Parts: sequence; C-alpha cells; structure tokens
Amino acid sequence: MDLRIDPITDDSPVRLPDPLPFGRIFTRRMFTERWDAVHGWHDAVIGPYRPLMLDPAAQILHAGQAIFEGMKAYLRPDGRLNLFRPEANALRFNRSAERMAMPALPVDRFIEAIEALVRLEHEWAPRGDGASLYIRPVMFASEPTFEVRAAREFLHYVVLSPAGPFFASGFQPVAVLVSEEHIRAARGGTGTAKTPGNYAASLSAIEAARARGYQQVLWLDAVERRFVEEAGAMNVAFVYDGREIVTPALSGSILPGITRDSILRLAPDLGFPVRETRLDIATIVADVDAGRITEAFCMGTAAVVVPIGRIGHHGADHVVGDGVAVPVAQRLYRALTDIQYGRAPDPYGWTRVIHAQADIQYGRAPDPYGWTRVIYAQAPSSERSVA
Ligand SMILES: Cc1ncc(COP(=O)(O)O)c(C=O)c1O
Repeated sequence: MDLRIDPITDDSPVRLPDPLPFGRIFTRRMFTERWDAVHGWHDAVIGPYRPLMLDPAAQILHAGQAIFEGMKAYLRPDGRLNLFRPEANALRFNRSAERMAMPALPVDRFIEAIEALVRLEHEWAPRGDGASLYIRPVMFASEPTFEVRAAREFLHYVVLSPAGPFFASGFQPVAVLVSEEHIRAARGGTGTAKTPGNYAASLSAIEAARARGYQQVLWLDAVERRFVEEAGAMNVAFVYDGREIVTPALSGSILPGITRDSILRLAPDLGFPVRETRLDIATIVADVDAGRITEAFCMGTAAVVVPIGRIGHHGADHVVGDGVAVPVAQRLYRALTDIQYGRAPDPYGWTRVIHAQADIQYGRAPDPYGWTRVIYAQAPSSERSVA
C-alpha cells in the first residue's frame, strides 16, 4: 500500500486518565483511505485524528451503507503489542462488506493499515488487566446521493481508543432480560454482518432492560421467538454440570464472534467439551432452575468473557448457579487473555506481534518495511590494511 504519513502538531507525552474509561478517549492519529470505481482503494494517509467532512447527502446518512469491526492490541510483558486474529476480523469485514453491497478490502491492506497506525500510536496502549488499545476499522458510503442503490464512493478509516475494562465492576455476573417484544436480527437480514443498523435497532430494548435493572438483553430468534441467539452485542454460552459448554449454533442471524470461535477451540483443550445446537429458552430456564446449568456467560472482544448471574424471563428471575461463582468462565477468561496478552504460549498461532516504531529505528526489531539504512563505522586507521 502506498501510505502517506502526515505530521501531527501535538507531540506532548501521552497521559491516560485513571480510571481509564471504555471507548471515550482516542489517540492523536487516524488512518483514512478512499474508494471509487475508477481508482479502487487510494489516498491512504495516517494523519491527525480529526472530525470527518461529510456531505449532508452522503448515502450513509440516508441508506446506511456502513460496516465496522472491533478488535484490540494487547500490551505484552516485553512491552510489544499483540494483535489477536486480525485475519479473522479482516475476513468478517469483507463478509459484512459483501452483505452490504460494499467494495472488498484486501485482507493484507486491512491489516497493514492497522499495524502501521498501532505502531505509531504504540505508547497509547494501557497497562493492566482488561486494558487494551481498542481498534475500530470502519467503512461507509460517502457518495452524495438520495438514490436507493449501492454507493460508488466509500471511506475506510481506523481509529484507536486506549480502553479500560469494558465492565468497570470487573469480573462480576450481569443480569440479562429475555427480549419478548423486539428481535435483533432475522435470518436473511443483516444479523451476520457487523453493520450499525443492527445496533441501532437493538438500543430501545437495551434501554428498556436497563430501566428494569438488567445490564443486557438476551435475544431470541425472530421467527419462533423461542431459540436463544445472543446476549447484547455478544455471543452466549451455558455450562452444563460444571463441564460441558453449550452455545447456539450459528443460525444465519447470529454474528459469528471471534471470541466465540476462539473459546470453542480452546475449551476442549482445557477439558471442557463443547456443543453447538439450537437452545430453546424454555429448556434453558428449566435447566437453570433445576441446577443442571451451573454457569452462563457472554463472549466478545470488548469484555472477552462476562458471566451471567440472572436471567429475567416472563416476569420471573432465574438465578444461574449460586449467581456468583463462575469457575469455568473464569478459567476460560484467564486462558484466553493469557494468550492475548502474551503471558502464555500461543499454540494456536492467533497472535501477531507489533513492534513499536522506535524498536525498528534502534534495530531492536526486524525492519520488514525497509525503513532503516545501516551505516558501518569506518575501521580505525591502525586496523586498515595497507595496500
Ligand atoms: C452482535 C455481536 N455479537 C457478537 C459479538 C462478538 O464478536 P467478537 O468476539 O468477534 O468480538 C459482537 C462484537 O463484535 C457483536 O457485535
């Protein structure tokens, strides 16, 4: 990629607030590039973080062609940063783009933009359990038009947010309310795409659940209103008899989470068998009440694993296990975050190390970009051979 790097004016040392909120602070630089049918992807620039100039007729504001991703860079004990399965995010970005009739973005280009930006903003990565440099790639239709058709101009940008833990209260079980009135997504719709409309459509149910003392909504399928799909903007799983992990099979209206996929691969290696199937909410609450379901948890990049302590359904509350102890969720959280933060070996090849720009400049890290030029000292005259 032909990438221009513009200077920024504010070069003062980075100071992060304590406590660090989630998703409200942004670094000083951003990546942008544009697409049109004639030039393809072009004008790739990393420059100062700034408001976007948008034509009021931009198609995004009327027909809503937009997609995004959510991923993180994790600070390793050696001071370098790990990206976690960025190819998986790149592939999902492209699946979302295809569903929303938007242009493809080559996987290498998606990752290169992120790596170049994260390398420059390395010092914004916060330390601490649950803290990370959150990465938000976005693509949207920028063409000014009221016609209802796929746009012909798009903007792709990436911004970064140093973020504290998603749930300020830490690893505490949350309460979820089964949504009876609203659905998140229908098969054949856009539920498997990461597109803002899905989230906009979920907000009134989330606000209503919060007003009743629940933190998240438990979504059911759109057709029969019976089968469990997701919890808030996370995938969901249930633990049977302290051992077996059962999660809704991808139904065509569930977002295929990368955390979900990672946990399904990791859990059997920790001695927890996994099963993907259709999960009837009536069976789930009966199994919770009978004590067969000992834990329930949500899975997603932002919070990694969030235990569910209570499920509200048809006006009654069902407490999962004792509502507090979550040994399986805790074990999975620890095992996955140990890999993400580089505290444990990564036998799955999920992590990708990013070197800070300074490490490349000082020769402490390899230079895949050809940025450096080594100057060899001339030997002192006493060591020079005399012809
Ligand atoms: C609707 C929805 N489901 C599930 C997830 C979890 O996906 P991931 O684990 O890739 O973050 C997310 C978050 O991206 C989401 O928005």
